[in-house]
Amino acid sequence: MSISVNQFNAAGDLTHLVTLEDLPKEQIIHILDTAQQFVSVTDPAREVKKVPLLRGKSVFNLFFENSTRTRTTFEIAAKRLSADVINLDIPTSSTAKGESLLDTIDNLVAMQADIFVVRHSVSKAPIEIAQHVPAHVHVVNAGDGSHQHPTQGLLDMYTMRHFKKDFSGLKVAIVGDIVHSRVAKSNICALRTLGCTDIRAIGPESLLPNDSGMQGVKVFHSIDEGLKGVDVVMTLRIQKERMEAGQVPEGAAFFKQYGLTPERLALAKPDAIVMHPGPMNRGVEIDSAVADGPQSVILNQVTFGIAVRMAVMSIIAGN
Ligand code: CP
Repeated sequence: MSISVNQFNAAGDLTHLVTLEDLPKEQIIHILDTAQQFVSVTDPAREVKKVPLLRGKSVFNLFFENSTRTRTTFEIAAKRLSADVINLDIPTSSTAKGESLLDTIDNLVAMQADIFVVRHSVSKAPIEIAQHVPAHVHVVNAGDGSHQHPTQGLLDMYTMRHFKKDFSGLKVAIVGDIVHSRVAKSNICALRTLGCTDIRAIGPESLLPNDSGMQGVKVFHSIDEGLKGVDVVMTLRIQKERMEAGQVPEGAAFFKQYGLTPERLALAKPDAIVMHPGPMNRGVEIDSAVADGPQSVILNQVTFGIAVRMAVMSIIAGN
């Protein structure tokens, strides 16, 4: 059985979101525009931060890998949409007794799940679930192995559009562990679809993929060269859990070669924004002076994640 799934139903509506690889431009724009409308729902000044779009629906958060931002913002987003939210505690679930992934899913479908939000260390596990569930159940990939993190990619596009408006003239540098980064892969797909023609991948050879996903991406092994004149700098965490020992220089040595310092950031445009999906390793891929500096939009990314995830869940559920 091939590991792919049609994210659209027979009527052409988005029914799952597992990858940005084949998501058309109009669909991405529709999600970003919908998210923009939801920003007002999440406004701290608004007394009742809820809309009834998912009232009566059950959203199951299934996080087989750790998460702070994604799991929590999916929960907030589902609650803002008035859904019932169930966070399955994987370590204390019957997964620990050897119950298979699909048996777990079947049992949760029997509990009348409507949406599964799935994070898994195995690439394409959410696709396997989407292939398996009945047609009325929706699956959102919350990050699978080194494959895709579509809602992170979308919230990153929302952030770039918010601060920079137009993708066609944008120069975007992605720095660090791209080969293991599902975030980088989703970002590259979305940027390409939205018309960005200057996408740069900066890092040592061992951390840059060499496959069709990198088509059109400019590769730099020197961070100083790669950052020249860019509008957006996105740094990434070194994913030690997905690599062999010795694959990259250790903390301080990596920082010396590829760490984003104020001096290096000065090579980008003066109004360049700094992004990071989190969690950050300060002093490894990014200097605290940059992470907490005036050009950082790292916490804006987190806030926008709520509205973007509201948009994704409301759209796939048919609202
Ligand atoms: N960006 C991101 O996926 O962060 P978490 O691992 O905390 O969810």
